[in-house]
Amino acid sequence: MKKICVIGLGYIGLPTAAIFARAGYDIVGVDVSERVVNSLNKGIVTIEEAGLPELVKGAVEKGKLRASLNPEEADVFIIAVPTPIHDDYTANVDYVINATKAIVPFVKKGDVVIVESTIPPRTMDDVVAPILQEAGLDVQNDIFLAHCPERVLPGRILIELIENTRIVGGTTPVAAKKAADVYRAIVTGDVIETEALTAEMSKLMENTFRDVNIALANELAKISAKLGVNAHHVIELANKHPRVNIHQPGPGVGGHCLAVDPYFIVEKARNESVLIKLSRDINNSMPEFVVEKIEELTVQIEKPKIAVLGLTYKGNIDDVRESPAIEIYQLLARNPRFETVAHDPHVQQGQVAFPLLSLEDALHDANVAVVLADHNEFKTLDSQYVASKMKTPVVFDTKNCTNLDNDYLTLYKIGDLSGLKPIQL
Ligand SMILES: NC(=O)c1ccc[n+]([C@@H]2O[C@H](COP(=O)([O-])OP(=O)(O)OC[C@H]3O[C@@H](n4cnc5c(N)ncnc54)[C@H](O)[C@@H]3O)[C@@H](O)[C@H]2O)c1
Repeated sequence: MKKICVIGLGYIGLPTAAIFARAGYDIVGVDVSERVVNSLNKGIVTIEEAGLPELVKGAVEKGKLRASLNPEEADVFIIAVPTPIHDDYTANVDYVINATKAIVPFVKKGDVVIVESTIPPRTMDDVVAPILQEAGLDVQNDIFLAHCPERVLPGRILIELIENTRIVGGTTPVAAKKAADVYRAIVTGDVIETEALTAEMSKLMENTFRDVNIALANELAKISAKLGVNAHHVIELANKHPRVNIHQPGPGVGGHCLAVDPYFIVEKARNESVLIKLSRDINNSMPEFVVEKIEELTVQIEKPKIAVLGLTYKGNIDDVRESPAIEIYQLLARNPRFETVAHDPHVQQGQVAFPLLSLEDALHDANVAVVLADHNEFKTLDSQYVASKMKTPVVFDTKNCTNLDNDYLTLYKIGDLSGLKPIQL
C-alpha cells in the first residue's frame, strides 16, 4: 500500500489526507502550524467540516494518519497550501514555492508530485517544475508531476472529494496517467487526464464563470432597486426559459476561491480579461451598496443599532476569509453614526477582531438586522421572536434566505428594495 505525504492540512489537505487514510493508505500530513500538527496527532480537527472530526479521529486511532512539521519520503506528494492574493491582486504563490522546496529532499525517482492548490496559469511549468528540475529531479522522466485542482464545496467536502469529476493535468502524458491513478483509488466520479495548463485554466474558469454570473445578478439587483422591480421575481421568471440560469444576488462574493481566482487570469492576460475584471469590481461594490441601503433605512434615527447576522462568506460554514459580511461589518463599525454588533453561530470569537454576541444580545433594541449569511439558523428565525427583541423590527435579508413574516416585522430583500422607506420612530 502506498504512502502519501500531504502538505498543508487545511480545508482541502486534511479531508484529502483523511479520505486516503480511510482507503488504507499510510498518510503523513505536514503543516507549518504546530497547533494544526499537535491537534491532529490527538485526533482533533481545527476546522469545521461535516463528518471530518469522526473521520480524522478514526484514521488517527488506526495509525493510518499522523501529522508532522516536516515532510518525509513517500510515493505520492500532494501539495494543498494556500494561494492568496497580494494587495495588488496578483497571486501569492510563495506557499506553493515553499512547499515544493520543502519536499525536494524527500522526492525520489518514480514518485508522483501533485499540486492541488489553485494556481495561476503556467505555474506548474514556469514555477513548480523548475524548482524540482533545479534540484536534480528530471520532471520529464524521473518523477510524475501534475496539477489536480480541487473543486469541492465547503460543507460537502467529504462527499464531493469522492463524487466530483477530477481534472488531472500532467506536465507529461505519463504524469497525468500516474497522478490520475492516485485519485482513481478513492474517486467514484470521472478522473480526466489532460495537460497542466488546461487543468489550471479549467479550474480558474469554473470560478470565474460563477463570479461573472453573480455579478450579473448583483447588477440586476441594483437596476431593480432603481426601476422599482423585484429582481427575485425577474430571475424566477427569466429562469423559466429552458436555457437561462440567472444566479442570485447577494452582499458580495467571498471566500478564497470565487473572490480570488479570477484575478489569477487577469494577472496573466490583463488586456483580454475585461469582463472578468469588471465582474470582480461589481461584486466588490456590493458591501457598499448594502451599507448605503442601511443608511437610507436609518436616516431618521440618531444612533441606530445594526445587528449583523452572519459573517461567513456562505452559509453553514465557519470560513470568514474574504467575506463581504466582514467588510460590511467594518464599514458599519467605522461609521460613528451606527452602533454595530455582530452574531454568527458558526464563527468563534478568536476568528474575528471584534466582539461576537448571542443572537438575543445582538437583536436586543436593534433598529435593523442585516442577514449576511444563509445559515440554517437564520432560515428558521422566528418572526415573533425577532420582532419582540428589536427596537424597530426591520430585517434586511441580503441572502434571500429567511422565512420571516411581514405581519410581525418589515422585511427587505436585496433584490426587492423598491419599497424601501426610512424607519419612523
Ligand atoms: N477550501 C476550499 O473550499 C477550496 C476549494 C477549492 C480549492 N481550494 C484551494 O486549495 C488550496 C488550499 O486551500 P485551503 O482552503 O485548504 O487552505 P487552508 O488555509 O485551509 O489550509 C492551508 C494549510 O496549509 C498550511 N501551510 C501553509 N504553508 C505551508 C507549507 N509551506 N508547508 C506546509 N503547510 C503549509 C497552513 O498552515 C494551513 O493549515 C488553495 O489553493 C485554495 O485556493 C480550496
